[in-house]
Amino acid sequence: MKLFVDSANIGDIEAALERGFVRGVTTNPSILAKEERRDYRAYIHDIIGLLMKVDPSLPLSVEVFTTEPSEIIRQAEAFVEEFGHYEGLTIKVPVGWEELRVIAALSERGIPVNATCGMSLNQAIMALGAGARYISLFWGRIRDTGYDASLVVADVRRLMNSAAHESEIIVGSIRHIMDVNEAMRSGAHIVTVPPPFFPKMCSHPKTDEAVQQFVSEFAAWMR
Ligand code: E4P
Repeated sequence: MKLFVDSANIGDIEAALERGFVRGVTTNPSILAKEERRDYRAYIHDIIGLLMKVDPSLPLSVEVFTTEPSEIIRQAEAFVEEFGHYEGLTIKVPVGWEELRVIAALSERGIPVNATCGMSLNQAIMALGAGARYISLFWGRIRDTGYDASLVVADVRRLMNSAAHESEIIVGSIRHIMDVNEAMRSGAHIVTVPPPFFPKMCSHPKTDEAVQQFVSEFAAWMR
């Protein structure tokens, strides 16, 4: 049960890493496009720099930004060339018929693949069969279509357990704090969370109340 940061914002990633609970980082083209425009490679290098200081094996997913199969391969190879010095580099490739070839080819070469944009059990079975190290299931987007994301995650996890898979489910597309809890309960190995949720996830009004009481009662007693 691990938490990843779903962001390309250097300050947000650093703030989360400093707090010790982060086990990896996921990015995607839209996430990168939220940052100030500059060479996207500079952002990835900056993230790698932060991760190196903590643990150079922490997975960092970098996603291809094309739908053209030969270009997907070319981009994946370019990522390996540019960022391959980082042990945790993981290439994110959307699940799809053409894309399965890329997932299989990269996995065969020992390059970890995060098969992303997964919405169904069938997609997960095929991506995992092709050798994907991670299958990313998009909680919020599955629910947008009227399906129960918890059932998809639970089905995938059950099959993975029965086949003693070493791959892991990453649940992404988190929209509410409750999504994180429910995804974990449904069987996600990992939930990748947008940074604004983190402070809310570790706060509770009753915690604040208890701390306030302890501090003020002790202060009164010391007076
Ligand atoms: C996961 O790896 C994705 O980056 C992300 O969670 C996508 O979710 P969204 O585009 O629905 O927010």
